[in-house]
Amino acid sequence: MRKRLKKTFFSFIILLVIQMEFDTVLRKRRSIRKFQSKEISMEAVRQIITAGTLAPSAHFREPWEVLVLRKEKEKVIQCMLDYVKIHPEDESISKTAEVIGRADLLFLVYCTSMEQYDYHLLSIGGMIENMLLKATDLGIGSVWIGNVCPMGKEISSCFDVSFSKRLVSAIALGYPESEPKELKRKTESEITIYRL
Ligand SMILES: Cc1cc2nc3c(=O)[nH]c(=O)nc-3n(C[C@H](O)[C@H](O)[C@H](O)COP(=O)(O)O)c2cc1C
Repeated sequence: MRKRLKKTFFSFIILLVIQMEFDTVLRKRRSIRKFQSKEISMEAVRQIITAGTLAPSAHFREPWEVLVLRKEKEKVIQCMLDYVKIHPEDESISKTAEVIGRADLLFLVYCTSMEQYDYHLLSIGGMIENMLLKATDLGIGSVWIGNVCPMGKEISSCFDVSFSKRLVSAIALGYPESEPKELKRKTESEITIYRL
């Protein structure tokens, strides 16, 4: 009886510790836009992408692919700057291009199936969040980037990606230079209607 109680107590403590670590990662994940020059290892890249593969996907279609760029992220930046020349009103695109320039790596995230595209986008959102959380867990900063989508076709043609795949997001990654300012977020009670 005492042994069982002891075991239950220790399981409870372990659960509490794991729970706290998970919450720390959730809270620590922020969009990082300034990075150190330190390189991210291939082992870390594999761990981040593996975390992405663990995400749920509608009908278990796993409609995602990731292109990992280091030097060649310059081609993405060039496509963004070319786009800004034609659309100068889109200021956030040149700012995001600068962020990509400071990052060590850029992941281009593709949707591999156009059928039930809306569903697949939801699945890919979950997959990206898994990758951001794993990066945070490894001490790596990241920012989710949607600003590559308007010139997605031009970017894809630089890397000979098939027309059947669509660029839906990018992630810039690097070791953070500093912590961003705290954001005031909507609270659980502000966003929830209970009808229990
Ligand atoms: C779908 C999506 C697209 C985003 N695109 C960009 C982007 O192109 N450039 C950028 O600097 N941040 C981008 N962000 C990051 C948001 O600005 C950021 O998540 C938000 O300001 C909240 O800050 P936090 O990530 O630090 O919590 C994007 C985020 C999401 C979810």
